[in-house]
Amino acid sequence: MAAVTTWLITGASRGLGLELVRQLSSTPNNVVIAACRNPASASELQALNPVENAELYTVQLDVLSETSIRASVAEVEKVLKGRGLDYLYNNAGVCPRDEVFSFDYSEFLALLQTNVAAPALLGQVYAPLLEKGTKKTIVNVSSTLGSIGTDLGETTATYSVSKTALNMLTYKQAKARPDFIVISVCPGWVKTDMGGAQAALEPSQSIEAQLKVVLGLKQEHSGKYYSASQNGKELPW
Ligand SMILES: NC(=O)c1ccc[n+]([C@@H]2O[C@H](COP(=O)([O-])OP(=O)(O)OC[C@H]3O[C@@H](n4cnc5c(N)ncnc54)[C@H](OP(=O)(O)O)[C@@H]3O)[C@@H](O)[C@H]2O)c1
Repeated sequence: MAAVTTWLITGASRGLGLELVRQLSSTPNNVVIAACRNPASASELQALNPVENAELYTVQLDVLSETSIRASVAEVEKVLKGRGLDYLYNNAGVCPRDEVFSFDYSEFLALLQTNVAAPALLGQVYAPLLEKGTKKTIVNVSSTLGSIGTDLGETTATYSVSKTALNMLTYKQAKARPDFIVISVCPGWVKTDMGGAQAALEPSQSIEAQLKVVLGLKQEHSGKYYSASQNGKELPW
């Protein structure tokens, strides 16, 4: 029997997370665990059918809730049936449009929880399952808007702050766990609810490009920041 590759993807209800689940579950030998906060209302996700020899499961996970994050581990373990987790894909995110001297404080705190603290806690609680996996990989979905060295100067102030912090999380996780591969990846500007209709890429193009980066990862890539839309180019922090 062929070896399977196991994936846990957050924010799988729509946008890039949904497309990632669609592509992975179309490939044999993938076991895909699609996590979303409201599985019952995620109709596009529920409509997906995995190809033969692939498996697709849905797990409830609201990344704004510590209880939900911790409770998800037992659900995922049930699905994995003793197998390890190969890829933890921290994709869920939010992006309020604001400016640095005029933002909503409560919204900023929730943003930091969703975009930074949740991926950090997910890394912590899923580390034992990643240890049991073969690939031992964490993908933190970031953005070039979090790259100080790129400085796109857009009006997404608190979002940019959150993605810069997420990049530091990647760096710290990689340093702390040399046996893991941890990267930040920017999906490019993509036509989703977040990216808007004017964006440059279709979700399918971004996910193909992200998977090219992710499936080619080797230990020496850990702790780095890549642009999927620029052919896997390494980005400046
Ligand atoms: N689109 C772009 O151009 C672009 C560019 C750079 C980076 N990114 C990054 O790519 C990732 C995916 O973005 P997207 O474009 O697919 O955004 P999207 O279309 O707005 O989808 C966001 C996803 O995150 C989920 N999410 C938000 N808060 C959550 C929570 N508390 N618990 C669980 N899930 C939650 C949403 O679930 P619900 O349906 O439950 O709300 C949804 O599935 C994000 O990290 C984003 O920052 C996107």
